[in-house]
Amino acid sequence: MKILVTGPCGFVGARIMHMTAGAIASPSLRNMDESAVRQIVESVQPELIVHTAAVSDISACDRDPEASRRANVLLPCWLVKTGVKCVIFSSDQVYSACKGDGPYAEGEVCPGNLYARQKLEMEEKTLAINPDTVLLRATWMYDMPIYGLRNRGNFLMNMLTRSENAFSATQHRAVTYVREVAAWIPQAAQLPGGAYNYGSENDLTALKTAQWLKDRLRLPVRLSDTGQQHHLWMDCAKAKAGGIHFENTVGGLEKCIRDYCL
Ligand SMILES: NC(=O)c1ccc[n+]([C@@H]2O[C@H](COP(=O)([O-])OP(=O)(O)OC[C@H]3O[C@@H](n4cnc5c(N)ncnc54)[C@H](OP(=O)(O)O)[C@@H]3O)[C@@H](O)[C@H]2O)c1
Repeated sequence: MKILVTGPCGFVGARIMHMTAGAIASPSLRNMDESAVRQIVESVQPELIVHTAAVSDISACDRDPEASRRANVLLPCWLVKTGVKCVIFSSDQVYSACKGDGPYAEGEVCPGNLYARQKLEMEEKTLAINPDTVLLRATWMYDMPIYGLRNRGNFLMNMLTRSENAFSATQHRAVTYVREVAAWIPQAAQLPGGAYNYGSENDLTALKTAQWLKDRLRLPVRLSDTGQQHHLWMDCAKAKAGGIHFENTVGGLEKCIRDYCL
């Protein structure tokens, strides 16, 4: 199957390129208009588009709302308008202002920042254009550095490299091993259109998760409490019903520890 992957040099896209048969790297779509995007899709003629390209940094969205809306809302709409089935990355940030205790199912959205509002607008607009579009709400993801592949600030690297880390003692929040995220892409492409919580679940608080990792790897890191209250954990039953079963957060970290012989 011919799969066009956007953002193929990004953190998630690079892993998808590496792990997905038939993946074809899209050129950078920065500053492209709708007709240029259409031309790329028509020249590749993919059966599926996996769209990871985005302005994924919350503060970068705040610094330039117009540019980030173009990348995070308009660009995915242009891809969907080509008529090719699209699997598009969204974010657990769509739950960032939810007041309930969680874990949150797909219907409970309440975005608490501009990036999250753009992701939610993107979900609504792309589904309106093509109801077969699959939106994957990802959590904060992690991996170890790999030569030649982009890494980014992530939970595991912060724990391994910093002498101090602060996490909330009350906040429930999952982190997900990005290799699981990439591995489930072929199954995600089979899902009926709609938004899916797509990542690990976690019934530990952020601080307890960090404490578990500190103990597991005997890390010399000092941990403290941020005092942050709101939750960001997802109920992934809908994806499970579609055959997608992530490890829970601790299970994903164990898998990563084994993969890299940490
Ligand atoms: N990383 C996480 O923990 C996380 C968590 C939740 C959700 N997500 C979502 O998952 C997806 C992938 O995340 P990621 O961490 O892989 O992102 P990333 O590495 O920050 O960026 C992916 C790619 O987006 C492209 N890009 C950047 N600015 C752009 C712009 N203005 N217009 C068009 N393309 C642009 C770049 O590709 P080129 O250099 O080729 O242009 C970049 O390599 C995103 O949709 C993100 O919002 C990520």
